[in-house]
Amino acid sequence: MTASPPLRTGLLLVALGAAVLAPALGGCRGDRTDARPRQFFPDMDDQPKWNPQSETEFFVHQDGTRRTQRTPDANTVAFARRSFNPEQHASDAWAKDYTLERASFLAEDDAYYTGQTAPDSFVAVIPATVTREMIELGRQSFEINCVACHGYKGDGQGTVAKLGYSPVPANLLDPKFSDPSQRSAKDGHMFSVIRDGLWNDNTGANRMPAYGHNVSPDEAWAVVAYIRVLQAAQNASFESANLSDAVRSELLRTRPAAPASEGGAP
Ligand code: HEC
Repeated sequence: MTASPPLRTGLLLVALGAAVLAPALGGCRGDRTDARPRQFFPDMDDQPKWNPQSETEFFVHQDGTRRTQRTPDANTVAFARRSFNPEQHASDAWAKDYTLERASFLAEDDAYYTGQTAPDSFVAVIPATVTREMIELGRQSFEINCVACHGYKGDGQGTVAKLGYSPVPANLLDPKFSDPSQRSAKDGHMFSVIRDGLWNDNTGANRMPAYGHNVSPDEAWAVVAYIRVLQAAQNASFESANLSDAVRSELLRTRPAAPASEGGAP
């Protein structure tokens, strides 16, 4: 069915009207203007209300202040709030982060959660048993959070470093990060650099950003363990490596030459 000419003109007008009106009504999002905003529901916008942390003439608190926020009356029951019981939600995936966060708030083991036993007294050795899984976790976290600056090998040659990041990211293979007599080599010091960042003692300027928001205490110790692996790997020789015969012969196995039809050996 084809629309009659008057109907077609009508449709065209409606479409044109919509095209003109839509931008006029919506304005351009993000543009700044001094004009009063258009109010579509003025009674909702303009209803009397008190903003939090502001002052009111309406009532005075017992302490003489005029805060808009009032102390709840005695025996007030907070609505829609319940205390969180981690045992009750042990098997719920959504509760995992809450449970971890709660545990870290309640944590009393300073050595484990701060890397220090007292201010500026860093633990020398990771206060946990280092396992293969932990090193693997450390590798993952290191590759997510650290390689951009410190490089995959930890030598300070990450992409961001090569582009001229200032200050120059540390070469974690430098002996000052492995010689136990040095403060910077203490496991606890590395842990605190990862979680809290590194700051210039005199000016307070940031030298390395903090990664505590993305690296939990467990992960930070795992990263320290992985840095120790990177350091040890630098000086390891094939002969000194403690390899089983099977692994050794697998590594020494020469690659068979590719068949001639595939273009020969690379
Ligand atoms: C945005 C770049 C950047 C990222 C990402 C980064 N670092 Fe750093 N890091 C630096 C810089 C820059 C320095 C050296 C600062 C200086 O010497 O003034 C440094 C220094 C260090 C040091 C030496 C601290 C000392 O005592 O001198 C350690 C250890 C370290 N980083 C570990 C890490 C680990 C582990 C990660 C990942 C969780 C990480 N960094 C992520 C930039 C970065």
